[in-house]
Amino acid sequence: MGNDKTILKALRGETQAVPPVWMMRQAGRYLPEYRATRAQAGDFLSLCYTPELAAEVTLQPIRRYGFDAAILFADILLVPQALGAELWFVTGEGPRLSTITDAAGLSALKPAEAIHETLSPVYETVRILSRTLPKHTTLIGFAGAPWTVATYMIAGRGTPDQGPAHALKAEDRATFNGLIERITDATIAYLSMQIEAGAEVVKLFDSWAGSLRGEDFDTYAVAPARRIIAALKDRHPDIPVIAFPREAKDRYEGFTRATGADCVALDNSVDADWAATHVQREGCVQGNLDPRHMVTGGPDLVSETRRIVEAFSGGPHIFNLGHGITPDADPDNVQKMIDAIRG
Ligand code: CP3
Repeated sequence: MGNDKTILKALRGETQAVPPVWMMRQAGRYLPEYRATRAQAGDFLSLCYTPELAAEVTLQPIRRYGFDAAILFADILLVPQALGAELWFVTGEGPRLSTITDAAGLSALKPAEAIHETLSPVYETVRILSRTLPKHTTLIGFAGAPWTVATYMIAGRGTPDQGPAHALKAEDRATFNGLIERITDATIAYLSMQIEAGAEVVKLFDSWAGSLRGEDFDTYAVAPARRIIAALKDRHPDIPVIAFPREAKDRYEGFTRATGADCVALDNSVDADWAATHVQREGCVQGNLDPRHMVTGGPDLVSETRRIVEAFSGGPHIFNLGHGITPDADPDNVQKMIDAIRG
């Protein structure tokens, strides 16, 4: 059952005349129906932890656009919260967390196995979705990759250069490595539960992979992804994994092979023709339209969409943006993109 879903075909390495499509942050503030449900929930975290409402916002872009995949509505920062960090969102600014700056902070965290107590509503959202999604729509679960999650846990917020995480790595390597390990274990436990609840694909978001250089990239982007993917494949050999080492630049080449991922998601700084030659030959790629086209629209949106479809037409490809759609996007532009792909 479900084997002819277009996303799963691409992830098995099939080249398709029309690539399947979904969008990062497809459930989000650019949609009036999302804003209404979020208001009903009261705040973002209540929305994440109320399974009926989280399932509803996951389904909204599927109803409106008929995307080939739905991505579970949750956030990568729920894992730090489940490990015992304080988490809150400041409207108009973003996430805030209590910080981990030393060994004492690390040892105050809960063990990886304890996360399910906090995260069980997320598994319930997955169960609701696997019952209610259209039969041809693939359900994608996700988590943040350890480095990216660690940058937020160390700094207590998003940072332009991930300076506090780089500083802890330089000054107290044992604590830093212990944190990466704790997040890695928690991520394996979390994604395994999403899969058991009905996720058909999982994606690892390493949004800040681009600030890791040289050996650090191998140690903190490649190695944790490889360990997570190996553990998941051991338990659930048929579940494909998409890895997103954002801004990895030339390190996109070889990432599929080095981690065992089934697909690598490309940000919009990567040239599609380069990636077709150097990345797609190792397996499926996903991406990589610049999200600003969802704001600006016009003929550039159509020509860029077609250029990306064409560049990746020789191999397995899932169409997506290079990063999340922004709140100022025009919902009509999303339909124009889909028409240009399927047209
Ligand atoms: O539709 C989907 O993509 C699924 C849900 C999803 C969200 N966040 C919902 C969300 C996913 C997959 C994420 C991943 C995520 N969260 C990442 C990795 C991807 C990336 O964007 O690089 C990161 C770094 C986070 C952490 C996070 N969550 C930040 C930095 C912010 C604030 C920035 C912003 O856009 O406001 C969030 C909040 C957040 N997560 C929103 C949504 C829809 C906006 C919250 C709101 O409704 O106010």
